[in-house]
Amino acid sequence: MSFSADWLALREPFDRQARHPGVLERAVAALSGRSAVTIVDLACGTGSTLRALGPHLPMRQTWRLFDNDLSLLARVPPAANLYVQPLDLVTDLEAALDGPVDLVTTSALLDLVSGDWLERLVTEVAARRLPVYASLSYDGRVELAPADPRDAAVISAVNTHHRRDKGFGPALGPMAARSAGAYFEKVGYAVEPGAADWVLRETDRAIQEAMLAGWAVAASESGEMPAEAVAQWLVNRRAAVVANRSCIRVGHLDLFAAPAAARRADRSQSNSTSSSSR
Ligand SMILES: C[S@@+](CC[C@H](N)C(=O)[O-])C[C@H]1O[C@@H](n2cnc3c(N)ncnc32)[C@H](O)[C@@H]1O
Repeated sequence: MSFSADWLALREPFDRQARHPGVLERAVAALSGRSAVTIVDLACGTGSTLRALGPHLPMRQTWRLFDNDLSLLARVPPAANLYVQPLDLVTDLEAALDGPVDLVTTSALLDLVSGDWLERLVTEVAARRLPVYASLSYDGRVELAPADPRDAAVISAVNTHHRRDKGFGPALGPMAARSAGAYFEKVGYAVEPGAADWVLRETDRAIQEAMLAGWAVAASESGEMPAEAVAQWLVNRRAAVVANRSCIRVGHLDLFAAPAAARRADRSQSNSTSSSSR
């Protein structure tokens, strides 16, 4: 499945605003006290996680960015200590994790992957005792205003469609983030989840138009609704967008997961730092 650079650019500001600050803070805290870190970003696209997390890290950073889409990788702005590498996460996940790594990140990936692949990811990072910051997994919750009687049927069809194979096997879709939490807990990780919803306001017309058009295609392809009903829904919803009356909330989940012992050590380190600085 391919993602256009235009779509990733359109969503990036909303992703950045949606990221759960507490979950991001846990990822930052996990690296505190180090003078240099290496971060592996899986399915990096054009590098949005680097841009979102990098400025929060005070230490020297080396980033290794992986994706299988060369046209997206070509748009990652070059920088010192930034290594961009084409790699298929289906066949070569383990290679991406090899070598010295302090944190694994990914964003908007987990809802595309299968349960088997997710379990493999968890097994591989747990074998290396690596912390993981996995942000912006779509979780199936959508609120649309003003309401249309077809909204629930369309979103249900979209969520069914989301579970189609995106190259990793049947996708977890909206279940991904919760499944990831459960898998991580099974291997002894402590998991910190947080809601990271997109809030699209009346004036956010371009992203609303793109979302609605994509949802209409997915709902039609799902076969759960007559194409005519989907088309009428789209006409109605687009009219609300054009009239500056449409608001959309799209549910996402962020999570930070780390080996439980490491998390306890983090906490006591930050407690002793804050008590000694009082
Ligand atoms: C929704 S985009 C998210 C991109 C980026 N993380 C972001 O948040 O902007 C999903 C990304 O997964 C990548 N991807 C999909 N299948 C992949 C695979 N088998 N191996 C590596 N990357 C893959 C796509 O090329 C795309 O960049």
